[in-house]
Amino acid sequence: MTSDFTPPRVAIYGTGQFGCLIARKLVEKGWPVVAAFNRAGPKVGQDLGRLAGMDRDLGVFVQDCETADYAAIEADIGLVVTKDAPADNMAAYTRLMQAGMNVLCHGGGAMYAWDFDPETAAKIDALACAHGVTFTGGGAWDLGRVWPGILIAGACTTIHAMEHKSLTNLSAATPASKHLVEAYGVGLNAEAFRKTMDGNLSPYSFIYRTVPPHVMLGLGFTVTGTSQRTEPIFHDTPTWCNALERDIQPDESCGMKVIVTAETQEGVTCSGEFMFELAGDRTEYFSWTVDGDASNRIVFERINAMGTTVGLMVNRIPDVIAAPPGVQVVAKLGPPKSSARF
Ligand SMILES: NC(=O)c1ccc[n+]([C@@H]2O[C@H](COP(=O)([O-])OP(=O)(O)OC[C@H]3O[C@@H](n4cnc5c(N)ncnc54)[C@H](OP(=O)(O)O)[C@@H]3O)[C@@H](O)[C@H]2O)c1
Repeated sequence: MTSDFTPPRVAIYGTGQFGCLIARKLVEKGWPVVAAFNRAGPKVGQDLGRLAGMDRDLGVFVQDCETADYAAIEADIGLVVTKDAPADNMAAYTRLMQAGMNVLCHGGGAMYAWDFDPETAAKIDALACAHGVTFTGGGAWDLGRVWPGILIAGACTTIHAMEHKSLTNLSAATPASKHLVEAYGVGLNAEAFRKTMDGNLSPYSFIYRTVPPHVMLGLGFTVTGTSQRTEPIFHDTPTWCNALERDIQPDESCGMKVIVTAETQEGVTCSGEFMFELAGDRTEYFSWTVDGDASNRIVFERINAMGTTVGLMVNRIPDVIAAPPGVQVVAKLGPPKSSARF
């Protein structure tokens, strides 16, 4: 640790899978985790160290988020690791920000809350400004989806179009994640897919539509409109689905594609194709292609998906604390930086 760096004091709100992984990483680094909150249930009252699978107590007990005394917590930032939609996390944001904590939220809808849910974003912004703190959404997209798009345009003197593509491989999902692969439409025939996944019906399609506008905002363009559609992905031959513990037949969907187009006032179009597929042993990736002068492509192969999102949540903490009050997006915070020296 270098002498000019004071480790931030962190509160974790939501002690599930990622909340615990982030807590472990912070403890490994020696950044103090000073409080943990969760909704009522068996996690409340447990020592966070044990709950997060460490072999020792931390002396930090998970508190019931409804009854905790937030004013008594001395933390620089609260990490909200509960739900995707900002509206569902409003109670968490309010409690932490009213106690003077900055907030970094892991929910997908928080990445660009202004686009995902402008009404809730305005409420969060007012709350954050009133308490002089920053609110930001973070996680894997920061490195995989947002910053490569901004960087690839860095050599362009003109841009005609930008294109983002990604593959999330559902093949490794276990039966415990059955709900997840079902939410991506796996196992549905064309008619069932149309009835439950088309348009904005899938619980996930709305989250991904924020990526192209987020990147265009980072590049300084003015987005005038975004459209999206959702399509099933069919394979010609039966495909094994680990999570559903059966073969998916050729007339059943092996996942879905969310196709997004954002138009800008400057005439540059930014498209996104987000694939969620039973893709066997194919490596998950994020790619960005810029058509302009100079045209280029960047491909990010995601080898450690969980480690990536955990690392980005940790590494963004100092940026969020240092950012101006209000709702800020990672596209405006500069590229993510390693905390390896701290
Ligand atoms: N940004 C990214 O790159 C990225 C990547 C992956 C996942 N995510 C998102 O991260 C979030 C957390 O994922 P996860 O896998 O860690 O989920 P998880 O294992 O279900 O953990 C969520 C935790 O939050 C608690 N919780 C839920 N609602 C709450 C509420 N209203 N108040 C207080 N606590 C509440 C749950 O409590 P109980 O279970 O005890 O009831 C659980 O402990 C999800 O929204 C997920 O989609 C984001």
